[in-house]
Amino acid sequence: MAKFRHVKNNYSVLFLVMILLSACSDRAEENKSSVDPKPEPLVASTEVSAGGNIAAGQARAMVCRACHGPAGISSNDLWPNLAGQKKDYLVKQLKDFRAGIREDAMMAPMVRDLTDEHIADLGAYYSSLPE
Ligand code: HEC
Repeated sequence: MAKFRHVKNNYSVLFLVMILLSACSDRAEENKSSVDPKPEPLVASTEVSAGGNIAAGQARAMVCRACHGPAGISSNDLWPNLAGQKKDYLVKQLKDFRAGIREDAMMAPMVRDLTDEHIADLGAYYSSLPE
């Protein structure tokens, strides 16, 4: 019963986070239009961060939320927060888990089928979240 309440609570947190995220992206849209219209070729979109796509990372992170939280802040002392972590660090850890250089029974199956592109997207997504 206590476990069930916990799960229900997680869904309401998830819901709040989705509202917050959509509010943030609305604001990003507004900001974009007030910025100098001259296009910057390499950083043309708020969604793309060098070597990773935030939106694609967010979609792929659905499975990660169970442990790392809906906004990259975990609810368990043994599961690290990922929000706001450096992107290159995240990418390195995920590749190390995939290569078996860093070992963890929970993380190993999570990264087994990830490509370098998936990992870059996840790194871009989690590093973009507020700590
Ligand atoms: C079943 C729970 C679980 C799931 C699901 C999970 N993780 Fe983890 N993750 C962990 C645990 C536990 C650790 C800490 C491992 C250790 O102690 O070395 C960890 C560590 C990490 C780290 C290293 C963080 C650091 O500070 O060094 C990254 C990055 C990470 N996870 C990303 C992900 C991503 C991306 C996903 C989804 C594809 C994911 N995790 C899914 C449990 C999980």
